[in-house]
Amino acid sequence: MSGDMRQGLEQGSDPLGRYYTDPVIGQVFVSLFDCRHASAILDLGSGAGSLTVAAAKRWADARIQTVDVDLSAEKHIRLGMASAGHQAHEHLVADVLDENLPDMVGGPRFDLAVCNPPYTRIRWRVGFARILTESGMDRLHAIPPEALSSDIMFIAQILRLAERGAEIGVIVPDGLVSARRSRAIRQALLERVRVMRVVQLPRGSFRGTEAQAHIIVFENEQGRGEPVDISYLGMDGISSPISISADAAEFRMDYRFYQSVGKITKRGFTLREINAEIKRGSLSSAEARDCNDPVFHTNSFTQPSPFAYRLATERIGVDRPGRRIAEPGDILLARVDRDLQKKICIVTRGWAVLTDCIYRIRVSATWRDAVLRGLLSEEGQAALTRVSRGVGARMLNKEDLLDLRIEAP
Ligand SMILES: C[S@@+](CC[C@H](N)C(=O)[O-])C[C@H]1O[C@@H](n2cnc3c(N)ncnc32)[C@H](O)[C@@H]1O
Repeated sequence: MSGDMRQGLEQGSDPLGRYYTDPVIGQVFVSLFDCRHASAILDLGSGAGSLTVAAAKRWADARIQTVDVDLSAEKHIRLGMASAGHQAHEHLVADVLDENLPDMVGGPRFDLAVCNPPYTRIRWRVGFARILTESGMDRLHAIPPEALSSDIMFIAQILRLAERGAEIGVIVPDGLVSARRSRAIRQALLERVRVMRVVQLPRGSFRGTEAQAHIIVFENEQGRGEPVDISYLGMDGISSPISISADAAEFRMDYRFYQSVGKITKRGFTLREINAEIKRGSLSSAEARDCNDPVFHTNSFTQPSPFAYRLATERIGVDRPGRRIAEPGDILLARVDRDLQKKICIVTRGWAVLTDCIYRIRVSATWRDAVLRGLLSEEGQAALTRVSRGVGARMLNKEDLLDLRIEAP
C-alpha cells in the first residue's frame, strides 16, 4: 500500500477503495497486452468499467465477465458497455474475496484478465487459506496476515479463474512494486507467474487520489527467472523500457528507482533480446497481382508518418503460413529494396496481406516506439545499410536483423 493510500485510509477514505481509473489510462492499459484475440475476459472490482470498456473496444469478439460488490456500480458499467456496443457481457454483484467465487462465475475459463483492485487492509478470513492454496500462492501463508492487502487477494482470485497461459494486467500500488516490506510478495509473484512488464503511472491516473501506482502485466505460467521490462508513462506516451533481471525485480520493479540510480545503460538492444517475432510476407509479385485483398509491398511505404500507417479497414481473416497479414501494432520493414532502410513503419489501423519483400516485426507494445525510433535514427539507418547485401536491390537477412544492435533512443 503506498504512503498516500495509507494516509487516505487513516483519514477515513472510501472503504471499498473506489478510486476509478481515468479512461485515458484504461486505453493505455489495454495496449500493454500482447494478446491479439481474447475469447473470455475477467474484470474483478470492475467499478464503473474504465478497464472493461477499454477491453471491450480492443477485443470486440470476447465474452466479458465483470464482478463488483458495489450495487451502485452496476448501472454505470451496463451503460458503459452498451455505449461501447458490446453485447457479450455478464455482470455479477458479489464479494470478490468470497472463496466460492469460481462457482459463481462458472469455473476457471478466462484467457485474459484486467483489474484495478482496491488497496485496502482486510481482516484475515478462514477462506483465504483456500484461495492462496488454489491460486498456487501457498508461499504467502508464511507472510503475517496483516501484511496481506486486498490487492494481493484479488490477484490470487484472478489466478484461480485464469486458464494456463492467460495474460493478466493489474494496477498495483507503489508499495507492492518497490517497498522493502513487500519483497516476499514480489518473490512469490515472480515464482508463480511470468511477469513481463511493469509500467509506472503518473500521479493523477485515478479519480479522487494522487496515489502512485503501476501496471503489471504477467502470464499465468510459472516464472523461470526471465527479465522484466520496466518503463513509465509520461507526457509523450510509454518510455522505452529497460530490462532488469528477475533478481533485480524481486528487489524492486519501479522505473523511478533504476532511473535515479543511473542504471539505464546506453548499450542498446537487439530484436532477438526483446523476443521479437519476425515473419517474412508470402505473396510473390504474380500472386500479389491476382490477390483480391489489399496487399502491402515495398511501393506501399508512401504515408507521411512512419509512426501511424493506416491500411484498408476491412478485416481479412487470420494469419497463417503462406498468408501473412499485417495488423495494428505490427512494424513493417522492406526485406528487399534499393532503399530498404528507409522503408519502415508501424501499422496503427487496418489490415493487408504482405508480399515476400516485406518483414513483419512483432514486439510487445512497450518496445514498439523504441524499435521504430532506433531503426530510423542515424545509427539505425547506418546499421541497416551495413548489414544488408547486394548491389542495386539490396536484401536483408532475418538473422542479421535479429542481431542488429539498436541504440535506445
Ligand atoms: C480502485 S476501484 C477500480 C474500479 C475500476 N476497475 C476502475 O479501474 O476504474 C476498486 C473497485 O473494487 C470494488 N471492490 C472493493 N472491494 C470489493 C470486494 N470485496 N468485492 C468486489 N468488489 C470490490 C469497488 O467497489 C471498486 O469499484
